[in-house]
Amino acid sequence: MGAELANYYNLEKETLHLWFVDVGAKLANRYYNLLCENEKIRAGKYRFAHDQYIFITARAVLRILSGHYLQKDPTQIRFKYGAYGKPYFKEENGLLFNISHSGGKAIIGFGKVMEMGVDIEKIKDDFDVVDIAGKFFSQSEIKSLKEIAKETQNRAFFRCWTRKESFIKAKGDGLSLPLDSFSVTLDDDREARLIETKWNPCEKDSWRIFSFVPYDNYIGAVSVRGNVQNIKYRNWNEVSERHNF
Ligand SMILES: CC(C)(COP(=O)(O)OP(=O)(O)OC[C@H]1O[C@@H](n2cnc3c(N)ncnc32)[C@H](O)[C@@H]1OP(=O)(O)O)[C@@H](O)C(=O)NCCC(=O)NCCS
Repeated sequence: MGAELANYYNLEKETLHLWFVDVGAKLANRYYNLLCENEKIRAGKYRFAHDQYIFITARAVLRILSGHYLQKDPTQIRFKYGAYGKPYFKEENGLLFNISHSGGKAIIGFGKVMEMGVDIEKIKDDFDVVDIAGKFFSQSEIKSLKEIAKETQNRAFFRCWTRKESFIKAKGDGLSLPLDSFSVTLDDDREARLIETKWNPCEKDSWRIFSFVPYDNYIGAVSVRGNVQNIKYRNWNEVSERHNF
């Protein structure tokens, strides 16, 4: 591996790597054989080709990237699953990852942290955000959303949604974690924070949340338990094209 390429996979302790991936038929076809038999069966169960491409590409790129970080053959990487479906590396290796996809884009995060979750969403404006917030957000989040000017409410909604979702995904408990049992800030892309964790008022202090804008009309968030000082953002398609793999 060249020095430039090796540098991409040098993951320092208090750093996260977030890889953005444009998903499509071409990549899905090229990488299909990296998947294990169970993953191929799972891919075959998606009704729409588009969902199949997303799953195949995200899994294959996860395998390729993990292979570089762990210096293993991508096909030899094995996963296990938590009670609510969260994937982890089967063998303990100090590395954590999490995946999210939305509208043809995927994001894969890596870190040497205690817990990590990522979420990406395509920003849509064809629904009543205050109405939906009433079903999913905590009382303090709903109040904050209502105080925001109408023109920016939509973005604030997705900022809140991705922060909450990334936190749920970091915890790995799916929707068994009540959505109103914790609150996040939502009024600024840069100022991301957990405001309350009702089950343990101190827990909020051990987490960090970051929002990011990977593409126009998308917003993402990552939640980590641990001391993160730095996030490096990478585009998988650019790196793989530049290095011809
Ligand atoms: C999986 C879950 C956590 C998120 O699903 P989602 O938003 O549809 O999908 P995303 O694209 O962000 O993430 C899917 C990926 O997360 C990973 N994942 C699956 N279960 C997970 C879990 N319990 N915890 C963390 N990650 C999980 C998988 O890698 C999955 O991708 P794969 O199936 O291709 O391997 C799901 O349990 C869920 O339904 N969450 C709550 C949704 C919600 O109502 N959110 C409200 C926010 S305010």
